[in-house]
Amino acid sequence: MKLSYHGHSIISIETNNGVRLMFDPFITGNELTDLKLSEVETDYLLITHGHNDHVGDMLPIAKKTGATVIAIPEIIHFATKNGVENVHPMNIGGTYSFPFGRVKMVHAQHSSGYELGDEMIYMGSPAGFILEIEGQTIYHAGDTSEFGDMGLLGELFGIDIAFLPIGDNFTMGPEEAVRASQRLKAKKVIPIHYNTFPVIQQEPMDFINLLPNGVGQVLAIGETIEL
Ligand code: NI
Ligand code: MN
Repeated sequence: MKLSYHGHSIISIETNNGVRLMFDPFITGNELTDLKLSEVETDYLLITHGHNDHVGDMLPIAKKTGATVIAIPEIIHFATKNGVENVHPMNIGGTYSFPFGRVKMVHAQHSSGYELGDEMIYMGSPAGFILEIEGQTIYHAGDTSEFGDMGLLGELFGIDIAFLPIGDNFTMGPEEAVRASQRLKAKKVIPIHYNTFPVIQQEPMDFINLLPNGVGQVLAIGETIEL
């Protein structure tokens, strides 16, 4: 399968069977992304939590493409109330087998609300996702601090590739992400959620250099790797 990084927390996956998934499609207002909203095509949208830099362009993409939104029920409620037709609610700890593979929703230590004008809409708990697709196990941590149960996730799932936030300020920073990587025992770790805003500026190679040789990999924005 192919995995691509599009800046901030946007990861897209194309399976060998041609199914397309996208996490946290924050395109409008994201000066770093290589994506153009009018050109995005996807079959599934996975939303980790309700912050505007993660829900992003969920509504226009889902409505235009017919993509199925996978998220916690509060985000699904927001989506359906705003005209999204294809949805799949999940909650923390739950696993579901989709046609493309298995998805587990896991804990993230963060907050979750959507700013709309002067309102802050409740969007349930923040989450991460562990996907088992075509023999590969992929963890998208969403926005989170490090937490001890990452060790449990590492024990229960042989994680092949983990996408971890390193921006600090809103999430864990590089040092915590290194400890998270140790807990997760992921074979490969890719940093996300940095450099989009002034308060999350990081030099990702500094993070990579704190990891054992060969574990960390920086993906350039728009870069694709094959698993
Ligand atoms: Ni957030
Ligand atoms: Mn965020």
